[in-house]
Amino acid sequence: MKNKQVISIAAAAVLAAATFAGCGSSSGSSSGTASSTAAQASSTADEAAAAASTTEAAAPTGGAVANKDKPVCWFNRQPSNSTTGELDMTALNFNKDTYYVGFDANQGAELQGQMVEKYIEDHADTIDRNGDGVIGYVLAIGDIGHNDSIARTRGVRKALGTAVETDGDIDANPVGTNTDGSAKDVQDGKLTVGGKEYTVRELASQEMKNSAGATWDAATAGNAISTWSSSFGDQIDIVVSNNDGMGMSMFNSWSQAEKVPTFGYDANSDAVAAIANGYGGTISQHADVQAYLTLRVVRNALDGVDIDTGIGTADAAGNVLTSDVYEYNADQRSYYALNVAVTADNYQDFTDATKTYAPVSNQLDASTSPNKKVWLDIYNAADNFLSSTYQPLLQKYDDLLNLDVDYIGGDGQTESNITNRLGNPSEYDAFCINMVKTDNAASYTALLSQ
Ligand code: BGC
Repeated sequence: MKNKQVISIAAAAVLAAATFAGCGSSSGSSSGTASSTAAQASSTADEAAAAASTTEAAAPTGGAVANKDKPVCWFNRQPSNSTTGELDMTALNFNKDTYYVGFDANQGAELQGQMVEKYIEDHADTIDRNGDGVIGYVLAIGDIGHNDSIARTRGVRKALGTAVETDGDIDANPVGTNTDGSAKDVQDGKLTVGGKEYTVRELASQEMKNSAGATWDAATAGNAISTWSSSFGDQIDIVVSNNDGMGMSMFNSWSQAEKVPTFGYDANSDAVAAIANGYGGTISQHADVQAYLTLRVVRNALDGVDIDTGIGTADAAGNVLTSDVYEYNADQRSYYALNVAVTADNYQDFTDATKTYAPVSNQLDASTSPNKKVWLDIYNAADNFLSSTYQPLLQKYDDLLNLDVDYIGGDGQTESNITNRLGNPSEYDAFCINMVKTDNAASYTALLSQ
């Protein structure tokens, strides 16, 4: 079996402390590098010895190829300007084997908005809880500098008629509190349901960032709903969230007991299960397809086969994806999984978010796809979606694709906590990168270019 290392920040800190205890002087900024390099050096030495004593056919791990020429897959956080959303094409074209894997943010955002709107239409009799003629919703925003989060805020505002455009783009800023409808970043919408016209109002919205700086923070969302509900709770008819982590936190703290429909995104297993108990719905971003693609693109590059192998074209094991679950944008070097709405009508098909996608679950042959070593980080080890859905899927696909992956967990705030643990790229054959901030691609590629 393969040796999998899940290196948490805590473990790295312990190692770093041990390293410093031994050497006495070093600069703080290189602590993670020193510790993880030390830990990895011995395993690399063992591997090299093992490789030398076995077959010559197995390609050596790491060394032979320059780091700057090794495959790179950005995933989940697309290299882009966090203010304008403009893609960072330098990072996306770092070398000929560089790709991004994510999902179609706009298509998913539209689906989320339409799902909420449809719920309102289907529940015309009960939706306006206090009968004031205003359908009020609150919105939990994940990260104001992340294009996926921005798209979801826009999708909901567009579908509910609360969107305001600035320079042709829907405003995605949080409004704070807007119980009187005077906020500038949104407007009151109008919806006719059950033959009656209602005003739709975004009563409040906030970026859920904790005091240490972590975004998409579920605990912050739980606190926000407590504050909002205690001052204008009977006006809240719907709770919407940019993701399920925050959505479930609000559902558990308040809306389940109050029977207020709550909508999220990600189709994490706990959120899907909660649909039976009144969670309004969620969107599957097809993490089962994304996790596969994340590792598949580096696998193909390492094997020197056409990038479409096992993606649009069946591989020798029969793995293949169909165009209803993903699209490839060659100009953007990006694979995007397609989203599906998960509601009371179909949630039973989505109960296990960590199940691999059957059409791409066939084991590769180790003679043609030999074992390779991959460095992969999760920007925030505490992120609900990435830790409970994406990483478990990656860990299943890495076996199927014969990849030995070192999983590095970040704290969601400090890029250098992660880049410090990319201290010796020569030990790896490929890199799968999930940035803290989408502007920071160069801090990774600089390490690979040295
Ligand atoms: C997910 C969020 C997650 C974020 C992390 C998004 O695609 O929907 O739940 O927090 O990725 O980057």
